[in-house]
Amino acid sequence: MQNDGARHHHRADRVKKKSGVAARDLHTMVEGVRGEVRFNAPLRDFTSFRIGGPADVLVFPADVEDLCRLVRQARAAKVPIFVIGGTNLLVRDKGIRGVVVSLSKLNAIKDEPHGVVYAEGGVGMPTLMRHAISRSLGGLEWAAGIPGTVAGCVVMNAGTRLGEMKEAVKAVRLVDPTGRIVDCPASAIEFSYRRARLPRGIVVGVWLQLNPAAREKIESVVKEYLRYRKDTQPLTLPSAGCVFKNPGREAAGRLIETVGLKGARVGDAQVSEKHGNFVVNLGRASAADVIALIKKVGRTVEEKTGVTLELELKIVGQP
Ligand code: EPU
Repeated sequence: MQNDGARHHHRADRVKKKSGVAARDLHTMVEGVRGEVRFNAPLRDFTSFRIGGPADVLVFPADVEDLCRLVRQARAAKVPIFVIGGTNLLVRDKGIRGVVVSLSKLNAIKDEPHGVVYAEGGVGMPTLMRHAISRSLGGLEWAAGIPGTVAGCVVMNAGTRLGEMKEAVKAVRLVDPTGRIVDCPASAIEFSYRRARLPRGIVVGVWLQLNPAAREKIESVVKEYLRYRKDTQPLTLPSAGCVFKNPGREAAGRLIETVGLKGARVGDAQVSEKHGNFVVNLGRASAADVIALIKKVGRTVEEKTGVTLELELKIVGQP
């Protein structure tokens, strides 16, 4: 825990100069929060792209109650909250004003009867996958190799060719904008391609309905899928996964390859040589580099093929 008062004041005052949120408000807002609190925290350290300016304040709530308190205090101070999963995300170079929350301490997994597993929002998909395999539960094989958090995967209805999140979600637990815990059945969520319409709030846990299956069978599907990804995707360089949604039946990666843009660069941002729908950070890419490159890709594909690509990547922060 780093929230001793003196340090807060000192750092928060520096924050005040460039942010729209008064330092006093930021300070009041995190009062009593038991989790970790960091002021002016560079978000590049928390994104898979290794890109992104600072958050005014970055909070790692200790548990759900801690988050409820933060939500109430932020509401009272009229300071916005943004939840960061860290993958599928590009944070702009000037960072994010207000409070950024990481759910990484909300990482418990509980087994319930009849193949139901409750995972807190900050659980990583690979961890959840290992848990399911250890219990001989199938239903998440499609997610092999997805690095995001459970909450992130629900919010964007993450998926691959093999399946998507909505198939496994039974219910979701949220902290609503007033700081109360609300449980929401899957039937009240509208899922579509890489989208989920949920009640307003922060997803802090998910009940997943999994199915008993032979462990070796699950493992072999997962293994084969991981090998496919390793062979076809640039997994050793920082990236945010696929940049564009696939337009209909066509693959964005194939279109980008067809128009000759594999390997194209702006600064240290590069269209992967391995997979056209990935932009990789070769070292010191800025968000501005990535955005310029993405624009170029979108424009070129549109000019040469007539297809308008839509972003899957979420771009956030101060323009
Ligand atoms: N292809 C090319 N050139 C390329 C890339 C792909 O010709 O540079 C061709 C492939 O040969 C294949 C087709 O395009 O015939 C589809 O490629 P791939 O199998 O790699 O799948 P994808 O549609 O590009 C989707 C998901 C990925 C997921 C993979 C594997 C989307 C937008 N992407 O990619 O998800 O990992 O399937 O299941 O749905 C992500 O969401 O971040 C992501 C990377």
